[in-house]
Amino acid sequence: MKTFKLFRHALLLVLVIGLTNISFAQNKDLPHVVILATGGTIAGTAEGSNQAGYTAGQLGINTMIDAAPGIKELANITGEQISNVGSQDMSIDIWLKLAKKANELLASDDVDGIVITHGTDTQEETAYFLSLVVDSNKPIVTTGAMRPATALSAEGPLNLYNAVAVAASPKSKGHGVTVVMNDQIHAAHDVTKLNTTAVQSFMSPIEGQIGSVIYGDIEYFRKPYSTHTTKSVFSVKGVKSLPRVDIIYAYADMPADFVTSSIKKGAKGIVIAGVGNGNMNAATLKEVKKATDKGIVVVRSTRVPLGDVLRNAEVNDDEYKTIVSDELNPAKARVLLMLTLLKDRSLNEIQEIFFNY
Ligand code: SIN
Repeated sequence: MKTFKLFRHALLLVLVIGLTNISFAQNKDLPHVVILATGGTIAGTAEGSNQAGYTAGQLGINTMIDAAPGIKELANITGEQISNVGSQDMSIDIWLKLAKKANELLASDDVDGIVITHGTDTQEETAYFLSLVVDSNKPIVTTGAMRPATALSAEGPLNLYNAVAVAASPKSKGHGVTVVMNDQIHAAHDVTKLNTTAVQSFMSPIEGQIGSVIYGDIEYFRKPYSTHTTKSVFSVKGVKSLPRVDIIYAYADMPADFVTSSIKKGAKGIVIAGVGNGNMNAATLKEVKKATDKGIVVVRSTRVPLGDVLRNAEVNDDEYKTIVSDELNPAKARVLLMLTLLKDRSLNEIQEIFFNY
């Protein structure tokens, strides 16, 4: 019995090591791409192949690579399992770990690009965060899947194949962090998930996609417009946590006490997912003014998927000491505000950052 237990433990250990670190035979003529796996539907499984319910983050990186025929002809691939979570459980701790890892790997002459496999729910937040804190002009590509690995017509293997092709290509240098999904290449700043279940879910509704990748064949249409990676002023070197920033969703007749309770819970910044052009009712605006008078930074974003939030249009931002998110949706505005608050900055500086990043 004891021998059997020992054998079982040894087997488990071998499996875990197999899931966490992989490297294949090297061909010196190929670029070197590192895949950092974090979980999500791309690594998800279900009992049947035609059901909507499934569990995200079940497969290890090895299994995902094996499901993408031809991928090892694009690059020498090594891989590491960073986490294996559904991306609703993506955390600041994992972001900091990913940023550290990506900065270390890309500083090495031996690494040409990185692919991060991720759940689609918060993929745009992770991609945007990394685009602000990774200091490299080498490609960093995030990808995922809308259908679990066991589904009929699972699209994860082709997304992974295309993501590795983009990360391995010298054409991708200087494009910052991109999101590769369903044959399209999107800039981290621009992209958002727009459909809960459809394969064509990721779009850049304001700026448009920056390129396409069809079975590994890449075409870029433009470079991202916003500031990123090597030009970014942000760094999380030595940072162990980020200041709390809450998002408050605005709606008709909303109670104003969300703002006060958020501050009581320790928020240093608040993003309002406003109605229309970043608006909120008069009662909430009054609480916002009390908050900004106390030094809490309040950013007006919008729950509307298209269009910029304009400064001093319907709300007098100068008077209320509020910042406008410009093009950033509430989730990305929160990411940028957390990083902005790592240092003391004037409201003017913060506003300039929101106009440029
Ligand atoms: C998740 O975000 O982890 C679940 C949904 C998905 O990956 O599509």
